[in-house]
Amino acid sequence: MVQFADFDARGYPMVDVRTGYAQWVDSYEQTVEDAMDLAVLSQLAVPAWGSVSRAADLGCGTGRTGSWLRGRGVAAVDGVDLTPEMLAVARAKGVHDQLVEADLSATGLPGGAYDLVVSSLVDEHLPELGPLYREAWRLARPGGLCVLVGLHPHFIMTAGMPTHFTTATGESVAITTHVHLVGDHLTAGLAEGWQLAEMREAVVDDAWVALKPKWERFRGHPVSAAYVWRKAA
Ligand SMILES: C[S@@+](CC[C@H](N)C(=O)[O-])C[C@H]1O[C@@H](n2cnc3c(N)ncnc32)[C@H](O)[C@@H]1O
Repeated sequence: MVQFADFDARGYPMVDVRTGYAQWVDSYEQTVEDAMDLAVLSQLAVPAWGSVSRAADLGCGTGRTGSWLRGRGVAAVDGVDLTPEMLAVARAKGVHDQLVEADLSATGLPGGAYDLVVSSLVDEHLPELGPLYREAWRLARPGGLCVLVGLHPHFIMTAGMPTHFTTATGESVAITTHVHLVGDHLTAGLAEGWQLAEMREAVVDDAWVALKPKWERFRGHPVSAAYVWRKAA
């Protein structure tokens, strides 16, 4: 199994998910780049977003993904997250029908009730992918879709960079980061019964270098990946 520690080029102190996002919450939306996830979601061919009646948003955070989905015509979105401070921001945003504080592996949401299960920028925090694909399978209706988007494992390894934020006092702090290879996603999704409907990889391009000039050295490297899975009807 690939360990992030073998690639860590930063050596930042590392905290668990709840501790990290509780501290990052105030600056989260100013620092996360839409290019990492929303731009990739925009390129997907398969989900007809406007025909989704009900979506479950696993690791919904402050509601960025939920807002994007609603903007694309998704009628209703339920959100689940481990970090109460992130959920409080999502609650104020008001884009979700229901918000649940829970681990995404055991959401308590109704089974077979969702046209779409989505999880954005979350998988690198999970020690194992199986529980995510398993809970998504339980939540999806027959014929439903599961869309995962996140950091590309190649990028985490090449940059040696964990998910991290800067504290109010200027310290860089990492949040527990795991590397899941593309093959790990395929194995975990297929094991639960999902059929792969689409996959996209985004690379560091001109737009990325304009956002982050220091990433010139990563030009052309895959930076994010999206998987679209279908549950047979
Ligand atoms: C980078 S944020 C992404 C939030 C949102 N999806 C977005 O794209 O802006 C990661 C979120 O995943 C949540 N998270 C991480 N592991 C989780 C788990 N096992 N169960 C539920 N939420 C989790 C964190 O609390 C955090 O809010």
